[in-house]
Amino acid sequence: MTKPIYDKYYKKKKYFGEPYPGLVEFFKDYEPKGYVLDLGCGQGRDSLLLGRLGYKVKGVDISQVGLDQMNQIVLDEGLDVTSEVEDVYSFPILAEYDLVLLDSMLHFYQGDIKKETDFIKRVASELKIGGVLCNFMVKGPNREKHIKDTLVGMGIDWEVLRDQYTDYPAFNTSYHMYILKKKSN
Ligand SMILES: C[S@@+](CC[C@H](N)C(=O)[O-])C[C@H]1O[C@@H](n2cnc3c(N)ncnc32)[C@H](O)[C@@H]1O
Repeated sequence: MTKPIYDKYYKKKKYFGEPYPGLVEFFKDYEPKGYVLDLGCGQGRDSLLLGRLGYKVKGVDISQVGLDQMNQIVLDEGLDVTSEVEDVYSFPILAEYDLVLLDSMLHFYQGDIKKETDFIKRVASELKIGGVLCNFMVKGPNREKHIKDTLVGMGIDWEVLRDQYTDYPAFNTSYHMYILKKKSN
C-alpha cells in the first residue's frame, strides 16, 4: 500500500483549508442527496461538509491520522459519515455509491500518469449508470485535456454537469471541477 505520507501534514488541523466555493455550490444544489464515496478524503474537509449538507458519506484514505480527526468531528456532530483505511487504487466502486468524489487525487505528473489514468478509468467503468463522478484538480490545460480525453475516450455516454474553475483561496490558486453523470456504459 502507498505510504501515509500525509500523516505529518495533518498535525496541522484543516491542512487543506476550507472546501472550494464551487464544490460547496455544486453539492448544496445537487439533488437527491445520496451516498458519496470520497476517495482520499484526508482530514475530511469535503466529507464533513457533505455530511452536514445531508449526504451519507464514506471516506477512504490511507492516513489513519487524518481519519481519526475526521471521525472525532463526525462523532461530535452526529453525521452520517463513515471511514475506512484502505488503498483507493483497489477500493471497489459498488453500486450503492451515487457519487464518487476525487479531490486533489489526480495530477497526471509524468511519473504518475499511467497509474492515475488506469485508476480513473477503473473508477469510471465501475461507477453505476446514473452515478456521478466529481473530480477536482489543480488547474492545468494539459491535465484537463488528459482527463477529458481519457473519460470521453472510454466510449461511455456522459452528461457534463460541471466543467469550470473554482477559486481555492487557502492556496491562492484555482481548481478545475469536472463533474459527469454516467448515462450509459
Ligand atoms: C492531496 S490530499 C487530498 C485530501 C482531500 N481529498 C482534500 O482535498 O482535502 C491526498 C490524500 O490522498 C490520500 N492518499 C494518497 N494515496 C492514497 C491511496 N493509494 N489510498 C488511499 N489514500 C491515499 C493521502 O493520504 C491524502 O490524505
